[in-house]
Amino acid sequence: MVYEVYLRSFADGTGDGLGDVPGLRSRLAYLADLGVDALWVTPWYPSPMADGGYDVSEYRDVDPRFGTLDDVDALLADAHALGLRLVVDLVANHTSSEHPWFRAALAAAPGSRERTRYFFRDGRAGGEEPPNDWISAFGGPAWTRVRELDGRPGQWYLHLFAPEQPDLDWDSPDVQEEFDGIVRFWLDRGVDGIRVDAAPAMAKVPDLPDAGHPPDATFASSEWVDNPHWDVDAVHEVFRRWRRIGDTYDGERLFVSEAVVNGPERLARYVRPDELHTTFNFDYLKAPWDARALRAVVEGTLAALAPVGAPATWVLSSHDETRHVTRFGRADSGAAVMGFDAAAPADLALGLRRARAAALLTLALPGGAYLYQGEELGLPEVEDLPEEALQDPTWERSGHTARGRDGCRVPLPWSGDRPPFGFAPDGVSPWLPQPASWRSLTAQAQRDDPSSTLSLYRDALRLRRQLLGEEPLTWLDLGEDVLAFDRGSALRCVVNLSARPVPLTGLGTVLLTSGGAAADLPPDTAAWLAP
Ligand code: GLC
Repeated sequence: MVYEVYLRSFADGTGDGLGDVPGLRSRLAYLADLGVDALWVTPWYPSPMADGGYDVSEYRDVDPRFGTLDDVDALLADAHALGLRLVVDLVANHTSSEHPWFRAALAAAPGSRERTRYFFRDGRAGGEEPPNDWISAFGGPAWTRVRELDGRPGQWYLHLFAPEQPDLDWDSPDVQEEFDGIVRFWLDRGVDGIRVDAAPAMAKVPDLPDAGHPPDATFASSEWVDNPHWDVDAVHEVFRRWRRIGDTYDGERLFVSEAVVNGPERLARYVRPDELHTTFNFDYLKAPWDARALRAVVEGTLAALAPVGAPATWVLSSHDETRHVTRFGRADSGAAVMGFDAAAPADLALGLRRARAAALLTLALPGGAYLYQGEELGLPEVEDLPEEALQDPTWERSGHTARGRDGCRVPLPWSGDRPPFGFAPDGVSPWLPQPASWRSLTAQAQRDDPSSTLSLYRDALRLRRQLLGEEPLTWLDLGEDVLAFDRGSALRCVVNLSARPVPLTGLGTVLLTSGGAAADLPPDTAAWLAP
């Protein structure tokens, strides 16, 4: 099980209100106690923070706000001593616009080698219009026009994310070689894996043809077919190249991709034997709280991955999505990506019940699971952040129509009864304000309460480690609205998505439930049994 550490919001070790490497290091014991196997840490590189660190200006260093390379070495040593592996986040589709390469490209002439590392093109309509119709994941066009050295409006450059994140051209040998070195730099330092950010973006159809997007298109990459800027087949060359590098290292080094693509067959291509080891499963994350939909995703995922021999992964939340306690409390419980969910009323008590049941479902499925920090505390999305506190580029780029992803990034509550709840030293304001109501959700408040969400996760992770290995999944039929399956003879999982209680009599010995310990499993509850 891999735990996503959103570094800015995990723990502040230096007292500036921003999470950092020393803060993470000071809380490793919590993660070991929870039963985590590995951490994926979001970017710590020097960055102007136009997109929370996913805009990197120097790939072989640590931003002073997050710490130093020495802090990272100490973190790695401590994590490894506790049996925790560490995965770094590599943002290779784009650099920051402050990266020396992009500055050099701006200062160079059209057609220069400096510009071939990115996508600089002349505009259409005499230069006035963007070169094509591609769109940015954060809203608006994917092109920004530059001023040339003579001060006149000039070429346009491509950015599938924010304008401060110019896309690299992966056909450029400079780009390929530079990233070979960066991958080696971190593997040499002892990291156990690399998360490949925005993986499907890293190849474009030559000549950059129009995608045919309708005028108000949003970035619906899970629906796109033959899109010229997403999931283009040439992208797999990059992963083969990195895999060849990774395979020269001792020990197990893992590559995992972030890939929101159209269906499990396209996704399975990322994890062919000579490419990445695993990939996040966004179909599962986006599925609504509905037995048929979830079962279809589970079956589709396992069927598509079997031929390539890669393990499945399961994920319910991340730093890019509405927290699933809130999502599952809404009438429409599926997720949109990148914080474009429409705000809708949420029944948080219902959402929490379902989230706890979903945790048992997720942790019982074959393969790996990714947890997002704070889900083990049952944190909801913070939907009432003041507008002036919002920092996600989505807010500005959507013309203040989508609030973006800040609501799932609010710093963790560790202890105490008022903000900053042990996230930072008392009296320090965290970079996003925490709700006062989180006093009952702190790690400290939940630690010794056997009915808390933290205890549920801890118990489930311990059992999972004890009981589960490679056993295949076999479905049981307990009715249409009930997900029930065995993992060999080791574990039976029953998840009640119906409106009626499900009798557990005769199904085995109950080991753990997400709520209620009666013989009948209440709606929106899950149980693990020894069959
Ligand atoms: C990935 C990250 C997201 C970031 C984007 C651009 O989707 O998870 O947070 O904004 O890439 O790098």
